[in-house]
Amino acid sequence: MISIYNQKIRKIYSIAPKIAKAMKSIHAKIIFLLNYKSDVKALKKSIEEIFLQEKLPLFYEIEIETMNKCNGTCSFCAINKNLDKRPLVKMSKYNFCKIIDNLAELNFNGVVNYFSNNEPLLDNRIFEFISYGVSKLPQAYHKLYTNGTLLTEEKFQTLINTGLTYLRIDNYNDKLIMNSNIQKIYDKYKEQKFAMKCEIHLRYNNQVLNNRGGSAPNKPKIKRQNMAQCPLPFLQFIVRADCGVSLCCCDALGKVTFGNIKEQPIEEIWTDKKRLEILELMRGQRRKEIELCKECDFHGSGKDLDYIIKYPTGKY
Ligand SMILES: C[S@@+](CC[C@H](N)C(=O)[O-])C[C@H]1O[C@@H](n2cnc3c(N)ncnc32)[C@H](O)[C@@H]1O
Ligand code: SF4
Ligand code: SF4
Repeated sequence: MISIYNQKIRKIYSIAPKIAKAMKSIHAKIIFLLNYKSDVKALKKSIEEIFLQEKLPLFYEIEIETMNKCNGTCSFCAINKNLDKRPLVKMSKYNFCKIIDNLAELNFNGVVNYFSNNEPLLDNRIFEFISYGVSKLPQAYHKLYTNGTLLTEEKFQTLINTGLTYLRIDNYNDKLIMNSNIQKIYDKYKEQKFAMKCEIHLRYNNQVLNNRGGSAPNKPKIKRQNMAQCPLPFLQFIVRADCGVSLCCCDALGKVTFGNIKEQPIEEIWTDKKRLEILELMRGQRRKEIELCKECDFHGSGKDLDYIIKYPTGKY
């Protein structure tokens, strides 16, 4: 099964692009205002619950960036191919397997993302890497996000065969139409039954989203010093291609790095003293004291925090 997101917006867009964009932005603002107040309260409660646990619960999701480049041009993304200054780095197969084996020792059953700040299909080892992850972590949820530009019918079939749980195709196109290679895949597979859940998200290439700690090229850092808590450092374990571990998925350059998978096991990095200090700052609504976070506009909810308390994703 393949589902498509944003079909309705696409229909309006085809009549009047400007009206559609304005409606989308008004809609987003209303949702934000409605959710914001209750989310802040719920998040505070969930973070307090985390600190009542005997040990810091293991993260909800891991992101593994097997290679650090992208071929996309999204104007909201700091690592689009026109801006990315990172030298090309490829994680070795040895280190990739080391991460997966470590997760298996922890009996990890959370989410394994085979991407981070990159386009994962640029790495032609990605299929064997996913198969390895799936075979070693049968209880986990295995996810891939791709911009789909390199996707062919053959690669789509290979992804199904890896045992991947969820594939999200971020189909970037300012007219919100399916790019031709994705359309072909959709036409061929839409009626077929397969275990992998697949969603095609029709997305604008040029859109204003979050400022990602101030790194998004089309959105300014926020001026007011933001005190709100953020759940991401409690939920995410982000391994970059150089094997360094970032605070959250917004930190593509690893401005705040806590250790390196080449030298330390996951559980040691997860409970790193510097990391725990940051969690305490977040708990005390002292976001302005965290260099990466002080100008970030991201707000999340406590939903996934409640999940990891109720259903631990692993043991260490
Ligand atoms: C960094 S991309 C990597 C995977 C793949 N290249 C893709 O675009 O699907 C992962 C997700 O981050 C989202 N993203 C990138 N910049 C963002 C921003 N400024 N605000 C919110 N989401 C962003 C992308 O839209 C995508 O859904
Ligand atoms: S959002 Fe994805 S496709 Fe777009 S530039 Fe960033 S990493 Fe590339
Ligand atoms: S506040 Fe922003 S930069 Fe800091 S952890 Fe949250 S999302 Fe990341």
